[in-house]
Amino acid sequence: LTPELRALFEDSKVPKRVHDLKLMLHVLCGLGVELRGPVDDAMLLSYGLNPTHATQALADVAARHSQPPPSSLPAAAASIHALVTSLRAEAERSKIMSVYTTIDLPLAPVLYRMEKAGVRINIAVLDGLSTRFAAELERVGEKIFSLAGRRFNVNSPKQLGEVLFKDMGLPAPNVRGKGKTISTAQDVLEQLAEINEVPRLVLEYRHLSKLKSNYVDSLPLLADAESRVHTTFQAAATTTGRLSSVNPNLQNIPIRTELGREIRAAFVAAPGNQLLSADYSQIELRLLAHFSGDPLLMRAYRQNEDIHTLTASEVFGVPAGTMNKETRNRAKAVNFGIVYGISPFGLAAQLGIPQAEAKAYIERYFARYQGVQAFIDKTLEATRREGAVHTMFGRVRPIPDIESRNPNQRGFAERTAVNTPLQGTAADLIKLAMIALDRKLTERNLKTRMVLQVHDELLFEVPLDETAEVEELVRTEMEGVAQLNVPLVADLGFGSNWRDL
Ligand code: CTP
Repeated sequence: LTPELRALFEDSKVPKRVHDLKLMLHVLCGLGVELRGPVDDAMLLSYGLNPTHATQALADVAARHSQPPPSSLPAAAASIHALVTSLRAEAERSKIMSVYTTIDLPLAPVLYRMEKAGVRINIAVLDGLSTRFAAELERVGEKIFSLAGRRFNVNSPKQLGEVLFKDMGLPAPNVRGKGKTISTAQDVLEQLAEINEVPRLVLEYRHLSKLKSNYVDSLPLLADAESRVHTTFQAAATTTGRLSSVNPNLQNIPIRTELGREIRAAFVAAPGNQLLSADYSQIELRLLAHFSGDPLLMRAYRQNEDIHTLTASEVFGVPAGTMNKETRNRAKAVNFGIVYGISPFGLAAQLGIPQAEAKAYIERYFARYQGVQAFIDKTLEATRREGAVHTMFGRVRPIPDIESRNPNQRGFAERTAVNTPLQGTAADLIKLAMIALDRKLTERNLKTRMVLQVHDELLFEVPLDETAEVEELVRTEMEGVAQLNVPLVADLGFGSNWRDL
């Protein structure tokens, strides 16, 4: 790097145009350069304008703007320069400029610092788990072989298909997998699992071997000399505005299974630190209350009533005092089902009840929560009018299929239209909280580091002597990130590992 170039990068009066600011910060850090001055990011602008493109790689963004793929560094620089000009003009005309300037762009350096910090793992815990997973796989495998009557390679779809559909005579699905083999995809096995033990065990086997290879065996290989693993957050990849995480994907470790929780126990704090997890409680349901203004939902959240118990008594007619856990759980499935654009088919499958019964529950829900029905109607109407939905902060998602003549496509589009303002606004809120917290931690000279984001949850590594201050700060910033018609609540927990918080 020439001294002239370094001086330009570090000159706070010289504006910069980049494609993928976070990546640029990593590269410049490697060269010992600090990027200063106002920055524009072609990738984030393009993502803000339309998050549904398969990629926001420079060549693809360029192609969508009728530019040739840049074939050299100077060509890439020229391309980025031109793209920022036209993307900014497009963004000014649409409503997305403020999402870009107040959320996505300022988040990039925050994510950069999180990636750089990484999260510490305990390799001994993972080594122990590897042995346990291997034994468990062996046990499940033997059970499969004994029920199937022969040994075969469970990981081979072809051999598995032969066993299930030829040897065992299970009903073969109509759809075919790649080539001419009968599909043994997840959904096929899930259906068969209802009538036979072998496909159920195969699903368990696949789950175990995925966790073993994706996490238990690969995390130690990805760790640096301080046993820290550095994920890459993708800030321009999802259609809703959520972040995703790759290499490794740390947002996808199951929390509901025993072995998934065991993997979380391998994520630890550095000596002299604790982990702090801060999780938004029912943020999407709270946003549903906010957007719909439904009186029952609003009352529940303002008076701190249990929402699932409330729905159970409204929909199933069970008085709160006499309710068992099972009834509450069914109501919970209804509540979250609404957020994900429930269908009688989907609810019936989840609860294991006839579709007619599921349909009756949904109707009863909407009769009780009339504000929610009105919110959904209004959202669908606006989506049909505009061909897109928006979050509270103006993030946009095109939904062209809302007018599709194919009922399946249209149904999916409608569910997406209802879910996106909820999930996307939740994503905006946590991003805003991350930006605010990053700034506060710096301003106050705290050594606490934000290390992970898993959708509604933030994970921090906190020196023991900062515990009280950081607890207060994180709660205040997360709960105060926006003024809604119902309170936002963050649940906080400290511990020595990610499982025991
Ligand atoms: N979830 C879902 N469907 C269910 C249960 C859970 O979609 N039947 C999803 C929702 O996205 C929810 C998340 O899992 O936000 C976390 O679930 P959980 O923590 O169990 O939800 P709470 O409402 O906090 O449950 P509880 O009051 O029982 O603790």
